[in-house]
Amino acid sequence: MSTATSSRKILMTTALPYANGYIHLGHLVEYLQADYWNRFQNMRGHQCVYICADDTHGTPIMVKAREQGITPEQLIAKSYEEHVADFKDFQVEFAHYGSTNSEENRILIEHFYKKFKDGGHITTRAIKQLYCNHDKMFLPDRFVKGTCPNCGAKEQYGDSCDVCAATYSPSDMKEVHCSICGTTPVLKDSESIFFKLNDYKKYLEEWIPKHTANDVAKKMLEWFNEDLLDLDISRDEPYFGFAIPGTDNKKFFYVWVDAPMGYMSTTEQWAKKQGKSLQDIWQDPSREIYHFIGKDIARFHTIFWPAFLKAADFKSPNHVFVHGHLMVNGEKMSKSKGTFIAARTYLNHLNPEFLRYYYATKLNGTAEDIDLNLEDFVTRVNSDLVGKITNLASRGAQMLKKKMDGVMTSMNAQGNELVLHAHAKGEEIAKYYEARDFIKATNEIRALADKANQYFDEKAPWKTLETDPAGTKQVLTATLNLFRVLAIYLKPVLPHYTAKVEKLFGEKPYTWADSQKILLGTSIQDYEHLASRIEADKVKAMVEESRALNEKIAAEKKAASTSAKPAATGAAVKTEDRNAEKSSEITFDDFMKVDLRIGTVVEAEEIKEADKLLRLKVDIGGGEIRQIISGIKAAYSAEKLVGRQVLVCVNLAPRKMKFGMSEGMVLAAGDGGSDLYMLSPDSGAKAGSRVK
Ligand code: MSP
Ligand code: ZN
Repeated sequence: MSTATSSRKILMTTALPYANGYIHLGHLVEYLQADYWNRFQNMRGHQCVYICADDTHGTPIMVKAREQGITPEQLIAKSYEEHVADFKDFQVEFAHYGSTNSEENRILIEHFYKKFKDGGHITTRAIKQLYCNHDKMFLPDRFVKGTCPNCGAKEQYGDSCDVCAATYSPSDMKEVHCSICGTTPVLKDSESIFFKLNDYKKYLEEWIPKHTANDVAKKMLEWFNEDLLDLDISRDEPYFGFAIPGTDNKKFFYVWVDAPMGYMSTTEQWAKKQGKSLQDIWQDPSREIYHFIGKDIARFHTIFWPAFLKAADFKSPNHVFVHGHLMVNGEKMSKSKGTFIAARTYLNHLNPEFLRYYYATKLNGTAEDIDLNLEDFVTRVNSDLVGKITNLASRGAQMLKKKMDGVMTSMNAQGNELVLHAHAKGEEIAKYYEARDFIKATNEIRALADKANQYFDEKAPWKTLETDPAGTKQVLTATLNLFRVLAIYLKPVLPHYTAKVEKLFGEKPYTWADSQKILLGTSIQDYEHLASRIEADKVKAMVEESRALNEKIAAEKKAASTSAKPAATGAAVKTEDRNAEKSSEITFDDFMKVDLRIGTVVEAEEIKEADKLLRLKVDIGGGEIRQIISGIKAAYSAEKLVGRQVLVCVNLAPRKMKFGMSEGMVLAAGDGGSDLYMLSPDSGAKAGSRVK
């Protein structure tokens, strides 16, 4: 193959996973596709460097460490070990894996901040924020819960309502409480430091369409109809992060400010190992820089980050590649269904290369969501990777080695033609890899495998071993050459698999160019097992283990938060806190106004776009079916509810919700979330009977 294209220098990153949780199969959508791309670039002879790190700062990490009774430093050290091991076992190969809690990162953020200030892009003013007197901290929106000011739904987050999708600020909510300890927070004035994002409005308007896909750019530019709001880059103590210079260690940089800088500081650590500086790498005009991220964090990477870089006179990335979210069996990953699967749980049951292969057959470089259908996963791996591809080697190589002398020979005309055809596909497949269209790349590879299998089956070498050993050898030689080409094309996806193929043929690590060679007269090594079929039981066991793991984590969390609750202390807070539960007296007439009836659930369906909602159709007697949208998803799976009798308030005013009208309310008791218990009559009750 000609290597006319000169070697490119590439720096690529994936989003830095939070250090407060485990790596799961959703994360791997990103880290695996980036790994394919990195390996592909290096096989093509380019100098591609894949950088990542843990994202270690922020309130959730501080809170989680408290929950576990350890320091944030201990927590992030533990996560670091786990993350690195998970990535390694999934064959994700970073040039360097760092941490945002590094000295390099601290120095870097101070440098950025100085540039922001010197450039006049910083402003300060006081804002009111909720403060928890018990936990002694300002509460980020996600740590505040309360009643939605719009629809009255309880236990909603401080920034938006899951039921009616309204957005608001926590100070608009009723029955506001701290989600950590349950007490009522107070409003407290605090000076905040802002980055004047709007200074970069024009710059970004031009930058965004040039550096990300059209659909992503369009979404991002929706924010540009109005002036861009100042970005609050400070957080008050206590906060686990970097102190802002000049604030007496009382204010800290918001985690999303130092996190993207982690790309650079980690690059710097890598550069030092090469005897170079950050400038040498990041500012090198001939080096391309790419970020791989999920669509949920596009705003941080295509608005805030390029503005920060511009303000500090750094080069911006060439492109931000945005991918979609992972669904499992067509739904959001679910902890209760066992489809929120930790990388480690997967590894306890299945071969990592199976997921690597499956994701490659699903990813096409766009921001569309991808679905891991567990049945399809088993079928694809078994029929394609094992049945079509691996079988070529296991049958061909074993026959040549065990039944013959193990030495390849020449090929017949038909075999030769097939190998040349496979060679000719190389550049097309490379083009798909380059475009991150792994679906097309694997489709082409599979089509080549089909052709090779046809040839093998047609020639049926197992029948001619005795009668025509020379002809048989030619067939096996062609089959093995075809397999070898496929293995090289698949190497970015299946590096360990292909390493065994290198051994089989006694060759050095393959580059892309090696795919264009033909092996004749090679003496092959013993066939080493490459891959065997997945048994469906293993998948079941993995799902079961996931369910159990998430239950255990939830129970531990609950135990930690109960033990952290104030007991008899803080009387003032406590009375306030109790208001929510203290019920006021009503008259009998008031009571009679509530029309409660027995209903039968006739249909139940999960509302995918909402975390908590199920859509129920409830028969309330007299032939009347009501649609009720109910926030019980975390506690009940839809299918379990069908046929079940429930208590329904039928004269509640219908409420228009984002997902349709809700015409009543199903009664349940509990704290909310997964702690909810639906009320049912004793058996024998008729649908429509009124509760008295
Ligand atoms: N810490 C931030 C990123 C900071 S980058 C300067 C973060 N961390 S994360 O752990 O939540 O996510 C890391 C990456 O994994 C993100 O790009 C995110 O989009 C991706 N994914 C996390 N869950 C995912 C799915 N369920 N599906 C696909 N990708 C997802 O965000
Ligand atoms: Zn609190």
